[in-house]
Amino acid sequence: MLLNKHIIVGICGGIASYKAVELVSRLQQAGAVVDVIMTEHAEDFVRPLTFSTMSHRPVYSDLWEPSGQAAERHIALAEIAEALVIVPATANTIAKLAHGMADNMVTAVALATKAPLLLAPAMYKEMYMHPATQANLALLRERGAVVVEPEVGRLASGAFGPGRLPETSVLLGAISMLLGRKGDLAGRKVVVTAGGTQEPIDPVRYIGNRSSGKMGYALAMEARDRGAHVTLISGPVALPAPYGVEVHPVMTALQMRDAVYNAIRNADALVMSAAVADFRPLEAAAHKIKKGQGEFAGMPRAAGQAERDADGFPLYLTHNPDILGGLAAQLGQPEGGIQLQRRLIRVGFAAETDDVLAHAQSKLVAKQLDLLIANDVSRSDSGFGADTNKVFIFHANGAVEDLPVMPKTEVATAIWDRVVSLLGMA
Ligand code: C5P
Repeated sequence: MLLNKHIIVGICGGIASYKAVELVSRLQQAGAVVDVIMTEHAEDFVRPLTFSTMSHRPVYSDLWEPSGQAAERHIALAEIAEALVIVPATANTIAKLAHGMADNMVTAVALATKAPLLLAPAMYKEMYMHPATQANLALLRERGAVVVEPEVGRLASGAFGPGRLPETSVLLGAISMLLGRKGDLAGRKVVVTAGGTQEPIDPVRYIGNRSSGKMGYALAMEARDRGAHVTLISGPVALPAPYGVEVHPVMTALQMRDAVYNAIRNADALVMSAAVADFRPLEAAAHKIKKGQGEFAGMPRAAGQAERDADGFPLYLTHNPDILGGLAAQLGQPEGGIQLQRRLIRVGFAAETDDVLAHAQSKLVAKQLDLLIANDVSRSDSGFGADTNKVFIFHANGAVEDLPVMPKTEVATAIWDRVVSLLGMA
């Protein structure tokens, strides 16, 4: 998404400017062409040399260079920019931008460019909360600027409150989203599920699986970066919530089913990459089950008496509903069931350990999917926890694509490419 994109990063004179060094480095590593511009006061915090080392390009800060070139510099930068991101944006620069001032390189480029503007305010909490700053930000938002809210936390002054610059990964997400807002999923609503479900045995124990959520999160971020409104229904995972994505955390398969059926009513596509538990304990114990305790979760007492052996701990499981399968069944019904506002492209995953192709083909048919993404989770370069995936894509028309091992981010791109062409046909 960032490859070859021309991004101007404007640095203001706040202590958080040191964090912008990492942002510039990450943008450059992602293949973006990054021009850094600085206010005079920003140079008091970080030397231009630091930024130019990261961006591999000159840094501009002086509107009044004696060579005279600077007279056109801000115009040239303004014209070439595909996005202007001001990180950190200080209260002073925000005020200048709101009122159309152009007294330094950053504000002059901001006034001259038609590129979308992203601001990441970072400052002392009282300056941020001040009605003047809030009114200026509201005005800038009204004019189309994207404001990445500062985080609440410990500020450089030692005080606690709003004003911290968000993590670089959040800023990268916001920039990718901004650049992709006119992408081929613009105006589309998509629902993605991710991670595994947890089925409680008692308040502290559960039945789970090895899904990391990486594939689903990559799918959600890719759709966001192509302009979609993304609802991500996520089981418990160790991944940060992606910027700009509506995340609905769930724990169990039943919660995931309800969240999915609710979210798809006005959606264009559903991609179910979650590893939904097929079984759950019939009943979760209300209290933690103690060692050697006679009662246990999910086991009807009478059945337990009959089945129990002296040292064993049988757990009585019941089937979870099949979310995709249930959807297919309901959509076939003329009355009742789930009413969708538009044709919903449905994509399922099949994580298999054996006979991958045969299992995948039958799942595509049984769940009435448009696409089924099959992977062999017994491979170390594929499936649970890995950063790469080796998948086959099964199409409803019988076509099968065999994709090479690639990063999950690229698998996500391939999947949305197929969904986009199906949406074009819908
Ligand atoms: O039948 P199986 O669990 O292998 O199918 C996997 C696909 O079905 C995945 O897309 C998964 O998210 C979805 N699924 C579901 N409801 C379940 C189990 C799996 O929708 N209870």
